Amino acid sequence: MKDETPNANGQRIPNGMLEDNYPRNMWWVAAYREEVTQKPIARWLLDTPVVLYRTEEGTPAALYDRCPHRWAPLSEGHVSGTQLVCPYHGMEFDRAGHCTKAPTQTMMPKTAQIPSFPVKEAGAFIWIWMGDPKAIDRDPPDVSYQSDPNWSFITGYMEVAANWVLIRENVMDLTHIAFLHKNTFKQNDWITAPETYWEGDSICYEQEFDLAPLSPLFCAGMGLPEDKPIKRVQKGWMPSLAISFSDWKVHDPNPDPGKRSDFIMRGCHIVTPSNKGQTHYFWGAAFDVPEISPQVAAKTKDSVVAAFNEDKALLQKLQANVSADPRGLDYLEVTLGADGAGVKVRQVLNKQLAQEGRSLT
Ligand code: FES
Ligand SMILES: [Fe+2]
Repeated sequence: MKDETPNANGQRIPNGMLEDNYPRNMWWVAAYREEVTQKPIARWLLDTPVVLYRTEEGTPAALYDRCPHRWAPLSEGHVSGTQLVCPYHGMEFDRAGHCTKAPTQTMMPKTAQIPSFPVKEAGAFIWIWMGDPKAIDRDPPDVSYQSDPNWSFITGYMEVAANWVLIRENVMDLTHIAFLHKNTFKQNDWITAPETYWEGDSICYEQEFDLAPLSPLFCAGMGLPEDKPIKRVQKGWMPSLAISFSDWKVHDPNPDPGKRSDFIMRGCHIVTPSNKGQTHYFWGAAFDVPEISPQVAAKTKDSVVAAFNEDKALLQKLQANVSADPRGLDYLEVTLGADGAGVKVRQVLNKQLAQEGRSLT
């Protein structure tokens, strides 16, 4: 029997964590730009084997990673000019997936055509559209700050054995920081529900905090002592299901002479489903401080990774538990007042799937 427990909005909104809950008609991140070179790489995206590569002119491309002849992975092949060459019998394909050469015959088999996926470079990433190309109606979200010399950008990647939507909800709900991350973030003052609202299609949350020491994760990047009380405003926004941001706007009311009083740390959280229970999680931590030192960048990265490993460990256990439980999703789920942003994530997801003629159970 289905649990019909209502949430704060009076209705149960599924997040599809045990099924194919990935919208197709949107830009997802396939890779960091520098990962995609003339040496092809294999990556599972939305239950699909994809080969990513650049032609010799540097244009990125993405094809279904399966030769139509005898199914060899094209990611084991090589690039020649603008063509991708299959490692098995040398058939060649262009960026649109058309076969342009079959070495043992002069006629190209008409059926030798594999799916290709539109890709775009924006910010630090290569974005991919895996749905209907005719439905492309927008560019990937604006991430221009990632290449702005006034910002320093630290990046990371982890593979998480959990459905992508669990990570998306997790990064839009920072009330878990005081508990799950009490030994890493050490920021225990988020104890009330943040305000949530819409800015266009973007879900936002915002909260102001009184004087308190800043999380040690971000002190080095801003050059602040770990015990200095500062004020901060935290604002998050989610321009698409693929990406969300979390700004920590810091104000030091007593800056040392000649020192800045205001800083921003911008977290960037990108999720791309690999399959139902596996997610590529690309993250960024940027400071509006030019050229932070390699030592500070490395220290910040280590401490962010330690904190995000806490999310990873918890979400993986959560997913494994629910997947193994014969009740599956037929179980009580209570929604709190602080879940406003998470509930909106589910609303966006359900709306987007409905636009593609799909629904979650
Ligand atoms: S499997 Fe690719 S050419 Fe034969
Ligand atoms: Fe977290």
